[in-house]
Amino acid sequence: MSNGQDNGTQQRLRSQAWFDNPHNPDMTALYLERYMNFGLSQKELQSGRPIIGIAQTGSDLSPCNRHHLILAERVREGIREAGGIAIEFPVHPIQETGKRPTAGLDRNLAYMGLVEVLYGYPLDGVVLTIGCDKTTPALLMAAATVNIPAIALSVGPMLNGWFRGQRTGSGTIIWHARQLLAAGEIDHEGFVRLVASSAPSAGYCNTMGTATTMNSLAEALGMQLPGSAAIPAPYRDRQEMAWETGRRIVDMVREDLKPSDIMTKDAFINAIRVNSAIGGSTNAPIHLAAIARHLGLELPIEEWQSYGHDIPLLVNLQPAGEYLGEDYYRAGGVPAVVGELIGQGLIREQAMTVKGITIGQTSGHLRTLDPEVIRPFERPLKQRAGFLVLHGNLFTSAIMKTSVISEEFRERYLANPDDPEAFEGRAVVFDGPEDYHARIDDPALDITTHDILVMRGAGPIGYPGAAEVVNMRPPAYLIQQGVHALACIGDGRQSGTSGSPSILNASPEAAAGGNLAILRTGDRLRVDLRQGRVDMLVAEAEIAERRVALQADGGYRYPAHQTPWQELQRGVVGQLETGAVLEPAVAYQRIAQTKGLPRDNH
Ligand code: FES
Ligand code: MG
Repeated sequence: MSNGQDNGTQQRLRSQAWFDNPHNPDMTALYLERYMNFGLSQKELQSGRPIIGIAQTGSDLSPCNRHHLILAERVREGIREAGGIAIEFPVHPIQETGKRPTAGLDRNLAYMGLVEVLYGYPLDGVVLTIGCDKTTPALLMAAATVNIPAIALSVGPMLNGWFRGQRTGSGTIIWHARQLLAAGEIDHEGFVRLVASSAPSAGYCNTMGTATTMNSLAEALGMQLPGSAAIPAPYRDRQEMAWETGRRIVDMVREDLKPSDIMTKDAFINAIRVNSAIGGSTNAPIHLAAIARHLGLELPIEEWQSYGHDIPLLVNLQPAGEYLGEDYYRAGGVPAVVGELIGQGLIREQAMTVKGITIGQTSGHLRTLDPEVIRPFERPLKQRAGFLVLHGNLFTSAIMKTSVISEEFRERYLANPDDPEAFEGRAVVFDGPEDYHARIDDPALDITTHDILVMRGAGPIGYPGAAEVVNMRPPAYLIQQGVHALACIGDGRQSGTSGSPSILNASPEAAAGGNLAILRTGDRLRVDLRQGRVDMLVAEAEIAERRVALQADGGYRYPAHQTPWQELQRGVVGQLETGAVLEPAVAYQRIAQTKGLPRDNH
């Protein structure tokens, strides 16, 4: 049998079961001929070179990841130089701001499609082209399930946005522009101009939204080459990183370095800590739970508080801070953040990375290069900046990003000297965003500065796909009085680019029988951050009665399925607390090792 020619190993590659199988010469011919029809030669395909997939997420439908179409050329050159053969293929597009009803619906669809591709085709390793919010978890989840050598390559953030001398950041500017519009300070044309200024180049959101968060965490998990996550998309360094990534995956195949060797429990704990330090998105717990479960690891939601809450906020990026992606890169990116945490003994240094050395070896000696953008550990932007995990009689769990609690919010809701971390308010309940938009400015609702807005019907089943609709702006008349945020609670998600301290990801959702379904406008709610509780102040007997009535009524109503996928996913999807995965898929672990090869196709 032929070998990897560069290092002379005798390892038999999985792709050789297709292209070089002496026990089945006619099938070998069938497999070979079609991959030769665009110019690959029999000699190459039987040379024992690793066949490396490039899982391409970029397309015109996915502008955030579109630059991967360019980067893939450099990835291919790296693969070829290291002795591999590149095979590029498309991944189901997921674009956060273009896909309706929500890109959240498609993460598991892309996951499932990629599992089939990685398992069912002659691939020895794969480059995961990550970027826009859900592309990163979808690809890491699939790599986890199949468990062939895999390396992620971030497409990189856009350049900084500017408007009249001020940095304008993706998404974050929208929430701001909505307030300016509601206050009558800009018109619709001004709205578009302001928002478009935040997107000046190829790349993903330049704020610390879900994209920068998940790309940073993919690096913190060890799945990207050190320093890869933060390089802006148009920089030449990004091209160089694409080439290095292509080179490295070939050696990873030779070393048989797999996702399960890298994404260990230690790696996830590191990622939780890094998430706090970067001021990461509230979508991170959902996606990390999903990746962990597909690796067979437990990552209970409580660990976000136990490992993450006490970590300070170091990265000064919008929405929690001031700066944007280019600044993050210049300040040292993820390795600088990891290095700051290592300096305090907060990183499990033995966790392995795709580079083949530990995270302690890659980043232990690094520190911030710009203490304004990445603060040194001793001088953080905020102490104890991680998530709180909340429980109570409304839901089993929900999370709250404390790093974005503003002074204004604190003074209004959390200023009672006898009870400084708790507040009570009247619930104003909305069933989905249409209901909210139709009624928020209705004077009859009589919303006051101490009310709590509640969004339900926005979870994985109810929406479907769990939409980012929980952060709700106050009514226009309150904004005009200078009220920028009301407390919000919901069973949906919130955009990572939003600076609202909402209580999110409530599980179980109303549509899955959670008590949010029986909450009524006018009920009193109590939020106690010290106790970690959110409760409706409704007598237990009354709660029981309402539950019986809801059941008799057929349960919480949500919109009908509009596509086959909506129906299929609703039947098997779990809740946000446990990653909103396709529950039956969790039974399939490390299938490249546990399921053998797929059968021949003819
Ligand atoms: Fe795609 Fe933000 S919308 S990265
Ligand atoms: Mg979003």
